[in-house]
Amino acid sequence: MEMKFARRFMRTAAVAVLASTAFGATVRAETITVVSGAVGNAVENFKAYVKPWEEKTGNTVTLVPMPASTTDQFGQYRLWLAAGNSDIDIYQTDVIWAPQLANHFVDLTEAAKDLIPQEFPSIVQSQTVGGKLVALPLFTDAPALYYRKDLLEKYNVAVPKTWTELAAAAKTIQDGERAAGNADFWGFVWQGNAYEGLTCDALEWVKSYGGGQIVEPDGTISINNPKAVAALEEAKSWVGTISPPGVLAYQEEEARGVWQAGNAAFMRNWPYAYTLGNGADSAIAGKFDVTTLPIGAEGDSSAATLGGWNLAVSKYSKHQDAAISLALWLAGPEVQKMRALNESNLPTLKALYDDPDIAAKQPIIPQWKNVFLNAVPRPSAPTLSHYNEVSAKFWSAVHDTLSGNGSAADNLANLEADLMDIKGDNNWQ
Ligand code: GLC
Repeated sequence: MEMKFARRFMRTAAVAVLASTAFGATVRAETITVVSGAVGNAVENFKAYVKPWEEKTGNTVTLVPMPASTTDQFGQYRLWLAAGNSDIDIYQTDVIWAPQLANHFVDLTEAAKDLIPQEFPSIVQSQTVGGKLVALPLFTDAPALYYRKDLLEKYNVAVPKTWTELAAAAKTIQDGERAAGNADFWGFVWQGNAYEGLTCDALEWVKSYGGGQIVEPDGTISINNPKAVAALEEAKSWVGTISPPGVLAYQEEEARGVWQAGNAAFMRNWPYAYTLGNGADSAIAGKFDVTTLPIGAEGDSSAATLGGWNLAVSKYSKHQDAAISLALWLAGPEVQKMRALNESNLPTLKALYDDPDIAAKQPIIPQWKNVFLNAVPRPSAPTLSHYNEVSAKFWSAVHDTLSGNGSAADNLANLEADLMDIKGDNNWQ
């Protein structure tokens, strides 16, 4: 009995010293669990990103992939966090969630003190709530208008500057490709499903028509205005004409599927689709380029919704030190560079925009620096803990309009009334 116990103890001790780390300390090997949404080739790349850290520390990392939809992820995360789940150490979080989830995460200000000066200040700001750094920026995001260079040339069509020009160009190319025998060809694919992605697309239409940003930074509800109505009516006119009726159920990956099979002239999507579109299994590798999203009319400005992902360490984790060490590694310059090269994700560290390897392999990255720096934030800061509800009301009003369920004018008037109720008398407090 004694001997058995001793042998078992020796085995445990051997495992414990195994993890003698590059950071100097000898710690017990731990398993860190990360939850993250996964689009494109994110899961397979993740293994390569964590490997050097696993080797250095002796710890192992488990990835729990979440549904691709950020809305579904948010629902699941909220349940886990509300229950104080200690099985998950690190959450990959959307840029819009910091104010709503801040209380469940560890303050990373001190741990990230060397990284913070290397970051774009606006990105750090977006993850700071009441002076607390809620999550470490992993990559930022701002969408592009993807277009088929070869087809624009074939039909002698210029790169569109306005949404009206986009619709006309899409129709010309669609008519031509269908006449040439491709019955599955569409002019323009985007994200029309009723979820957070539609909030992003529709904010771009509204803002680029000069119709504001739903709720302004000071908390004013601005969405019920004639320019927003015009923007939504224009988008509605695409459904079933230049965009498939099924676009009302599309998220990012469905749009990319049609585009990458060679069945669309234009696509609205985030930079991750750039490297995949140029991949060996893509029908359109080398045949496309990107530009900024169109404007309503002369004098308006293009609008790209600000996206991006971060890493937050759970307050309920039993491995906080190791989790913080992993988060710092994943958010640091080596992995951000790998992520830029492998996934065309936009880095949050300033220096990587001057990196020659990144510029050579992923020209969209240096090209997109000014796009994300000028991107429109969703109203997650002014609406505080109500953002998810505000966004859900907005995407529902938009989805109804696109589906022919009420006019844009009526739906936006009702939306305004709903938002007034949520805002209450206390400016969203
Ligand atoms: C992208 C963006 C994220 C956004 C999501 C919507 O992943 O980075 O911020 O919420 O798309 O689908």
